[in-house]
Amino acid sequence: MMARYAEITGWGKALPPVVLTNSDLELIVDTSDQWITSRSGIKERRISHVPASDMAELAARRAVAAAGIAMEEVDLIVNATCTPESIIPASASYVQAKLGAVNAGAIDVNANCSGFVYGYVMADSLVRSGAAGAVLLVGVERLSWLVDYTDRSTCILFGDGAGAVVVQASATPAGVLASELGVDGTMADILCVPNDGTIEPGSASSVTRLVMEGSDVFRRAVTAMADASESVVRQAGWDLDDIDLLVPHQANQRIIDATARRLKLDSARVFLNIHAYGNTSAATIPIALTEAIEAGRVPSRGNLVFAAFGGGLTWAAAAVRFGERVEPVGVIEDELPKSDQTVWELIQPNFDYYGRLERQ
Ligand code: COA
Repeated sequence: MMARYAEITGWGKALPPVVLTNSDLELIVDTSDQWITSRSGIKERRISHVPASDMAELAARRAVAAAGIAMEEVDLIVNATCTPESIIPASASYVQAKLGAVNAGAIDVNANCSGFVYGYVMADSLVRSGAAGAVLLVGVERLSWLVDYTDRSTCILFGDGAGAVVVQASATPAGVLASELGVDGTMADILCVPNDGTIEPGSASSVTRLVMEGSDVFRRAVTAMADASESVVRQAGWDLDDIDLLVPHQANQRIIDATARRLKLDSARVFLNIHAYGNTSAATIPIALTEAIEAGRVPSRGNLVFAAFGGGLTWAAAAVRFGERVEPVGVIEDELPKSDQTVWELIQPNFDYYGRLERQ
């Protein structure tokens, strides 16, 4: 029987147009552009005025067009997110409905910032096994919903956005060569949104807000991302010189720099866009991959490393052989609609809410 591989054949992104800059944040919390830039590498982030499924839909349409397939050919939608639009149904159902992907199954994957890599390893396996011919994998987040804009230690980091890839069966050797999926559930409470599930049913004090012990998360992220990356490179049988591009989760430039140092990669072999979007959790890698391909930084049959870390505490890495084609088959010109709300109007509900909590 001919070997069956799983190739990334399509890619796309969708970023909401409204920008929240470091100078904007200087007006609402005690911080500075200089502090945020030097500690995180972030200059600005996007705040969405549309539901997450609208961002997911556009990124997905772009990925499907780039793959050159019909929406009816998608067998499964895997929607990686930790900011679902509702508890029931999963956000993947909204995405499926908006896309009209009538032959697809749909499921959310929540591994927080590692969600895209978890979803990608699953998609690759399903395609290789023959359980699916084409998987549409989306990473989408509307983190501005969870961000407390009175907390300077978290509100500087996060933003909204979506990215997507199509993973398809292929006879060409491509796809995941080695992967590592990990978690330390005992440390889950150092990065979490407490009280918004069934843990305290009916609790009147339930607060939907992301809380984080930043420096502890930072230390663990540095170790886990670098260890997992090194491990998949070794398992793939690569030398460090064989890596064409590291496409890392964009949480903090210093975490990325530490992983790059461990893999002995110069800046030409690391993709960075954190300055523009901040941390968009499960969306960072598909957005970064799309931009890397568009910038000509992913060679045909190139060797890529995906590496991520996030709440849970999860981590994930994959050594990936990219496919032959690095040009899209088709391009979607549509954009998300313009916002008639300013950035202040978009974050005002959160700001009022958390400001009020603070005063209680
Ligand atoms: N502006 C100015 N000062 C700030 C600040 C801000 N936005 N946020 C925190 N500070 C202050 C702290 O209050 C602290 O002051 P103190 O020394 O007087 O107590 C000081 O800066 C150092 O804080 P610390 O948290 O140790 O800074 P850091 O170098 O660890 O950087 C983060 C903070 C949040 C940027 C960093 O810890 C980080 O990126 N952590 C990982 C976050 C992450 O990636 N989360 C998602 C995982 S997917």
